[in-house]
Amino acid sequence: MADSLEKLYLNFQKELNQIKDLNSLQAFEVKYLGRKGELTKILRGLSELSIKERKTIGEKANELKAEMGGIVANKRSELENKNYKDLATAEKIDITVPAKRLVGHIHPISQIRMELEDLFKSMGFLVLDGPDLESDYYNFEALNIPEHHPARDMQDTFYIEGDRELVLRTHTSPVQVRAMQKYGAPLKAIVPGRVFRNEATDASHEHTFYQIEGLMIDKEISIANLVAVMKELLAGIFKHEVEVRLRPGYFPFVEPGFELDIKCLICRGKGCSVCKHTGWVELLPCGLVHPNVLKHGNIDPEKWSGFAFGLGLNRLVMMRYGIDDIRYFNSGDLRFLQQF
Ligand code: DAH
Repeated sequence: MADSLEKLYLNFQKELNQIKDLNSLQAFEVKYLGRKGELTKILRGLSELSIKERKTIGEKANELKAEMGGIVANKRSELENKNYKDLATAEKIDITVPAKRLVGHIHPISQIRMELEDLFKSMGFLVLDGPDLESDYYNFEALNIPEHHPARDMQDTFYIEGDRELVLRTHTSPVQVRAMQKYGAPLKAIVPGRVFRNEATDASHEHTFYQIEGLMIDKEISIANLVAVMKELLAGIFKHEVEVRLRPGYFPFVEPGFELDIKCLICRGKGCSVCKHTGWVELLPCGLVHPNVLKHGNIDPEKWSGFAFGLGLNRLVMMRYGIDDIRYFNSGDLRFLQQF
């Protein structure tokens, strides 16, 4: 019995030297140490021995089992290490290269918003914020749009169920009056933000989009000031001077109110499908702040005057990059977003 243990160990040693890979090591381990392996076979025979022999041989067999187990484990880590090294040299793995991962970046609307914020800050404007969930008062009433006035129908509104006093703001204009009440006159501010309309969506209509409101209040503000700031704004966006024209436009919170058009950048005014063959593209509603709005802001319209404008950011990004469907912005589609 002792002999067969010794023989087993010798064979084990000899065979071990031939093992060159993990698969053969696995088979080798099963052969010697597995449930039906060589060593187990010997241990099974113990029952035929005398009690004394059983004890000594049993002890020896168990020692051997532990030793062989240790040897197999060492061999295994040796082979594994070798595997890694082989892989690294064979495939030239550069372990210092950062792992592949998806790196996010700034959304095109945020990019243009940040550019405009910088531009207006350089002209001394504050950058303000307001609530998305707005009161009926600031969204309409304070902007000279009383209840039952037909102008309310200009904007399809999401009302909050059971509470007609709260709306998802339909524009950034409510922050005009909030700002006047907080800061008084003189005042220069822009308000970038998200707005909501209860729209049936299509290529040019979304229920959620972005605007920048602008407001300047001082002594004797005129349309000339408005046009000058608008031209500065457009040159900042399009990187060269842009020709503009004003058309009358109706918004209850300005008087007079205008639509500011720019000379079409695609055809340079000759007429194309983008400008519907007029040579001009409607870009920016604006006007001189209505005296009633100044009054809601606790500013005396006899002493102060101002201009305001509302710029649609989605529209601007679409013009800049030639995007033909507004719904891409909220789609979360990486194929769209990764282009910017
Ligand atoms: N708030 C208007 C809208 O979303 C846009 C607008 C028009 C803003 C004229 C202004 C303005 O400040 O003077 O339809």
